Amino acid sequence: MTAVKAHAPAKINLTLHVTGRRSDGYHLLDSLVVFADFGDLITVRPATVSRLAVTGPMAAGVPVDADNLVLKAAALIDVTADITLEKHLPAAAGIGGGSSDAAATLRALCDMTGVAMPRDVLVLGADVPVCLAPRAARMRGIGEDVTPLAGVPSLYAVLVKPPVAVATPGIFAGLTQRENPAMSDPLPVWADAAAFMCWLGEQRNDLQGPAIAAGPIIAEVLEALLDTPGCQLARMSGSGATCFGLYDRAESAAAAAGRLAQDRPGWWAKATRLNAA
Ligand code: C5P
Repeated sequence: MTAVKAHAPAKINLTLHVTGRRSDGYHLLDSLVVFADFGDLITVRPATVSRLAVTGPMAAGVPVDADNLVLKAAALIDVTADITLEKHLPAAAGIGGGSSDAAATLRALCDMTGVAMPRDVLVLGADVPVCLAPRAARMRGIGEDVTPLAGVPSLYAVLVKPPVAVATPGIFAGLTQRENPAMSDPLPVWADAAAFMCWLGEQRNDLQGPAIAAGPIIAEVLEALLDTPGCQLARMSGSGATCFGLYDRAESAAAAAGRLAQDRPGWWAKATRLNAA
């Protein structure tokens, strides 16, 4: 058996509607999720005990012990492996770094060993089920109900994370209204990218308000994105603090990321393409 690699792309919530709350405190969501062509890289090799090494530009501060979701994912299927996580995504940023890493680890380990993909991946985190097959999807329930979605156009985006850490449970706790309207069911059939963008502008991330209350710099990020030429929409992903701006041309996204990185050296800014499939 040789090394197996799996990409762990950034997850972006283009919409995130909080539609209710379960008795166990978890929130019911209705979210349109897409994946970037940019993310972490997992490499697994056979070994008799599990070991994790974290490399890459965002490795600092990432735990290498059993706290890391990558090792929790390996333990879930009872497979041992030598695992390398090449970290490019900022941690705890609302773009699914840990969940995408866990899902990619499961894909790579199942591939390497022939072990079947487990059904109970939700125990690793609410975003792990959608990250198992990283393509456009509608995510409902607390994250376990995933429906692949056709008709979402490929989009150019800039991801921006300011130097602020937001804790997901605290952001959910900051919701003033816990029952908000879901997206339409079924979702509309978008005739073209312009129709999609028009529809998207009418949707929401219900966690954006509580996140801005906890970290006002998030509002600055949204304004800065909207100020860049060609930006059609700016919104926060997940519980933040990463926000995305959408552009119809790759060149506009690249120019916007370059300008933001220059103007705000403390901000992480990355131009990427959001893949429809
Ligand atoms: O599942 P995950 O570890 O990503 O969730 C982190 C925290 O976010 C949970 O402990 C919970 O407080 C909150 N959460 C929630 N409803 C969801 C997902 C997460 O309340 N659907």
